[in-house]
Amino acid sequence: MSLAADQNPGLWLFMRGYRGNRQARWQEGMVMTKTWLITGSSRGFGRELVKAVLASGDQAVATARRPERLDDLVRQYGNLVRTAPLDVTDPVAAAAAVQLAITEFGGLDVVVNNAGYAVSAPIEAMTLEDFRAQIEANLFGVVNVTKAALPVLHKQRSGHFIQFSSIGGRVGGTPGMGAYQTAKFGVEGFSEVLRNEVKPLGIKVTIIEPGAFRTDWGGSSMTAVPVSADYDQTVGEMNRYRESTVNTWPGDPARAAKIITDLAGLDEPPARLLLGAGAVESAREASEARAAEAEMWADVSRSADFPARQ
Ligand SMILES: NC(=O)c1ccc[n+]([C@@H]2O[C@H](COP(=O)([O-])OP(=O)(O)OC[C@H]3O[C@@H](n4cnc5c(N)ncnc54)[C@H](OP(=O)(O)O)[C@@H]3O)[C@@H](O)[C@H]2O)c1
Repeated sequence: MSLAADQNPGLWLFMRGYRGNRQARWQEGMVMTKTWLITGSSRGFGRELVKAVLASGDQAVATARRPERLDDLVRQYGNLVRTAPLDVTDPVAAAAAVQLAITEFGGLDVVVNNAGYAVSAPIEAMTLEDFRAQIEANLFGVVNVTKAALPVLHKQRSGHFIQFSSIGGRVGGTPGMGAYQTAKFGVEGFSEVLRNEVKPLGIKVTIIEPGAFRTDWGGSSMTAVPVSADYDQTVGEMNRYRESTVNTWPGDPARAAKIITDLAGLDEPPARLLLGAGAVESAREASEARAAEAEMWADVSRSADFPARQ
């Protein structure tokens, strides 16, 4: 055995062609590195996450619609990273990216469903085509990649899905974000069911709920459809607010990436993680308001049941 392999049991097992139960190897402390698959790696959170994962010594299949945008990271990190073309609306490409992780790294430990975008328009004015495209990318993208990876994680009886929602997928109600927040609420519903189904299989699920972060999401990635006078005080006002503040949003995607990288090492990661002080405050206000309204209407709510049998 070489000196490097001697000091690294994971490498030693790899050199022997060991392909045993991944969870057992984790529990025995034999696998030192994890393999990640990350969607939407070209920019923003996705790119920061690839950088943080590779800097930690883990391996990654970094996927993007234009994987050549990751060439600099391939040059820097060499064998720790593979890139794959993936538009998340394409389930065949999702399956190919998962297969690449198996072929190149022998398994898959963490799947990050990060890719996403928004078009701002009043629901009345949003074309069905634009509405559907956002559901396809933001919700079905998550479904496609999760379903492609799930049989692998199931067989291993280990792994972690990290699903990007938004504070808007917990609180909702932002004028202009009808399709986007519909999709993000969908991501949360899908991921909650997934968590309960796969927990006994040794698989974890965490929903990420960022507030306002300084990526391209609210800038060059966002299209704002011109708004008529009747929607100016709602959607128009929200667009102006976003455009005037986007470059000063408090969230730092590099800090978020480090937090997420650390999450993947936990035995009991959170079911949901808010990111940013603004998200924490919005979530608190929304849950208090919802609890108060549910309480105020509780008698009416209960009166919908058949009377209790005497
Ligand atoms: N930034 C925020 O304030 C914020 C807040 C809450 C939630 N989020 C969520 O965070 C996630 C990442 O967004 P970001 O903030 O990093 O924005 P970003 O800087 O605009 O990056 C978005 C990434 O998603 C990719 N993408 C979009 N549609 C895709 C598709 N169909 N297939 C594959 N990749 C696709 C983009 O690829 P291209 O380069 O090819 O366009 C890009 O890499 C999203 O799910 C977003 O909804 C962001």
